[in-house]
Amino acid sequence: MHSHALSVGEKNDGELMQKLLVEGASGSSRILVGESIENLKNYIDPRRTVIITDGTVSRLYRQQFPVGPIVSIGLGERIKTLETVTTIFSRLVDLEADRSTFILGVGGGIVCDIAGFVASTYMRGERFGFVATTLLAQVDASVGGKNGVNFGGYKNMVGVFNQPEFVICDMALLKTLPVREILCGFAEIIKHGAIADGPMLDFLENHRDAALDLESSIVEHVVYRSVEIKAGVVTRDEREHGERRKLNFGHTFGHAIEKLTGIPHGEAVGIGMVLAANLSVEKGMLARNDANRLEKIIHGFGLPVHSPVDVSSMLAAMRKDKKREGDRIHFVFLDALGSARVEEIEFEELYRLAKAARIG
Ligand SMILES: NC(=O)c1ccc[n+]([C@@H]2O[C@H](COP(=O)([O-])OP(=O)(O)OC[C@H]3O[C@@H](n4cnc5c(N)ncnc54)[C@H](O)[C@@H]3O)[C@@H](O)[C@H]2O)c1
Ligand SMILES: [Zn+2]
Repeated sequence: MHSHALSVGEKNDGELMQKLLVEGASGSSRILVGESIENLKNYIDPRRTVIITDGTVSRLYRQQFPVGPIVSIGLGERIKTLETVTTIFSRLVDLEADRSTFILGVGGGIVCDIAGFVASTYMRGERFGFVATTLLAQVDASVGGKNGVNFGGYKNMVGVFNQPEFVICDMALLKTLPVREILCGFAEIIKHGAIADGPMLDFLENHRDAALDLESSIVEHVVYRSVEIKAGVVTRDEREHGERRKLNFGHTFGHAIEKLTGIPHGEAVGIGMVLAANLSVEKGMLARNDANRLEKIIHGFGLPVHSPVDVSSMLAAMRKDKKREGDRIHFVFLDALGSARVEEIEFEELYRLAKAARIG
């Protein structure tokens, strides 16, 4: 498996678009950064397409959708369930969707995760693609081929690995995003820089205000780099046996904080990254200055950096996490800004490190 940048393509209006190819065992995916939703007709046959979207995206962008049936789902993590999938299956049966039907997910991570799962299972699999409409979906959820839903109180418990044929990342769609959603996207972008691309962190520092203002060329650059980093990691380790774990940087503490407090994912990951960087310093891997600098960047992007819960509660929450392997856990440390190292450590050791780093 491998991924590489395709030639830089051109949009109809003459602006540049950047394409990336992700090749996985389950197929390959073209990520089109800077492509416009208006050009969807170049990728699909509208007469054979069923669109899956959510109420908000449909209200804002319906006029720009290709003609064809629209299945609109509700909002929020709570609807990411098998019940919603069942409802969509029923609609597809009513619409007489068959093996020649193309499923197009237009929305954020929730729509993409559900649409990908529906497309992968209905009639043993339909062709599918995404228009990613949130920053988080563009840099994270739509890339990598993981599709699925929550089950029994656990996130993403049921699903499949399967690559969409294409993902359109249209910067113009981000303008209507609530600011909190934008910041969550930047948390993952900063994460990608922290684990794999020091220069991107420099770029984010130098272009912070323009990035937060969603200036197209700036956001396009960081989205492209982010996708390139995630796609690179994923194509080397699609099923998360090793390197893909690096993408969990900040997420071990982050998930625990999210669970305990209910704050948005990206905010929890921001705090989790600061904690993980501090633990890396405590372990002697990372320079104190680098951890401080990362904290400053995260804070500069409007994300919280201090944990509202103590270490003991976080560790208790982690122990319940489905990903834990016995008393040990794969934890992502940094050995520099732009370089991550995954180590299996015991909870006791994690606790000792966190205490020593005076976290919580
Ligand atoms: N498959 C993966 O690899 C992967 C990776 C990361 C996250 N995820 C999943 O992604 C989900 C979160 O994704 P998300 O943050 O995009 O959430 P989301 O899909 O709920 O979107 C956030 C909100 O923004 C609205 N919205 C979407 N596009 C908009 C636009 N252009 N303008 C205005 N509003 C818009 C949505 O209606 C929604 O209310 C989680 O369920 C998470 O598990 C999956
Ligand atoms: Zn995340």
